[in-house]
Amino acid sequence: MTEKSAQLTLGENTLDLPIYSGTIGPDVVDVGQLTAQGVFTYDPGFVSTAACESKITYIDGGKGILLHRGYPIDQLADHSDYLEVCYLLLYGELPNAAEKEKFESTINNHTMVHEQLRNFYQGFRRDAHPMAIMCGVVGALSAFYHDSLEISDERHREIAAFRLIAKMPTLAAMCYKYSLGQPFMYPKNDLSYSENFLQMMFGVPCEEYEVNPILAKAMDKIFILHADHEQNASTSTVRLAGSSGANPFACIAAGIAALWGPAHGGANEAVLDMLTEIGDVSNVDKFVAKAKDKNDPFRLMGFGHRVYKNYDPRAKVMRETCHEVLGELGIKDPLLELAMKLEDIARSDSYFIEKNLYPNVDFYSGIILKAIGIPTSMFTVIFALARTVGWVAHWHEMISGSYRIGRPRQLYTGSPQRDFVPLDKR
Ligand code: SDX
Repeated sequence: MTEKSAQLTLGENTLDLPIYSGTIGPDVVDVGQLTAQGVFTYDPGFVSTAACESKITYIDGGKGILLHRGYPIDQLADHSDYLEVCYLLLYGELPNAAEKEKFESTINNHTMVHEQLRNFYQGFRRDAHPMAIMCGVVGALSAFYHDSLEISDERHREIAAFRLIAKMPTLAAMCYKYSLGQPFMYPKNDLSYSENFLQMMFGVPCEEYEVNPILAKAMDKIFILHADHEQNASTSTVRLAGSSGANPFACIAAGIAALWGPAHGGANEAVLDMLTEIGDVSNVDKFVAKAKDKNDPFRLMGFGHRVYKNYDPRAKVMRETCHEVLGELGIKDPLLELAMKLEDIARSDSYFIEKNLYPNVDFYSGIILKAIGIPTSMFTVIFALARTVGWVAHWHEMISGSYRIGRPRQLYTGSPQRDFVPLDKR
């Protein structure tokens, strides 16, 4: 980091605040000395706040650029596979053939879950939202591994990462099977990560499951496009939970909870519900008007982004993949036509243009997931499954370096100090 500084005058004092530069992207101003001056910075929603230093993912919101360890997302989506991207996010480099084979077999050997974990599902109603189940069962992994986890031990951290990446598809598929009343399927070690997930989702014990390569490839690409995304709300939640020394399973459960919100990972489910509600292109104008109405809480789901003020590069790949997959499967989904019409109309409207609102990763993903046969209620679970590697990579990066417990302050606007009033005097 180079030595530059910003001057800030506070009353009689002028402070020199150090400015640090990264490899690419905006500089940061170190405001650490402000507390000693009796003031805090104020940035609700952390719009202008860099909470940490990281080498994992870089986003340029103005240019619509997303790099994982320097590699553009569209190149990874076109030429890599999800486990290779997991290796890249965790270790910083693409694996060679031997490293890739070893990583794949390591992950494969951790895909089963403790048999007693199956009992956790029985406590939920069959129609429980699968994200509610995932919050519970992923946090419960702590009960099975907590005592064998010393987070200051590099090897323990690595095994926890393997377990989380490997077990998420198993736990996710178990949510779906439980909702159907069908038996849980065990993972199969001779299948790829995405093939295995599909067989655990759609296979039954009574017959061999035949993997459709088109669906497996589409699933793998969906996983890649959701793998990581810098310091988003759920990743920041994982980092904050991890900063207290909580075990990684509890931290990932916290990330799942944060992802569930419709403003974040829950948007993919909300987009499908919105498109279904719009129903026909003749209703698009009404919904666009609702989205523009300040008095209407309705927002165009799958549109807008805190960082991207240009096209989300993942949405671009997702839209192309929609056409590829539906074409290869011979599916003509009216929701895809509707989504594209909605995008055209919104993007020609001054409100969306002026506010730089573009489709984000969630706008088209649901259409592919629907073509794969995944129910809408499982969409955010798929997002959580894929994002686990990003969460764990950021957790690992933080714990491997020097870190302090995260403890933001506030602007207090409550009551000044006052004395207690006894009940008979109120
Ligand atoms: C994800 O952070 C990440 O990286 C997240 C993510 C990841 O990979 O981790 O990319 C995944 O969460 C994608 C976003 C999915 N969410 C949605 O699609 C929900 C719909 N979008 C919005 O709710 C909103 O755009 C957010 C939450 C995504 C961003 O919110 P911000 O940055 O706080 O922006 P804002 O709410 O301040 O909006 C700025 C303006 C506002 O109008 P004004 O008050 O300035 O007049 O744009 C408007 C908003 O009302 N606006 C929208 C809108 N999104 C923003 N108006 C209509 N429809 C929308 N979708």
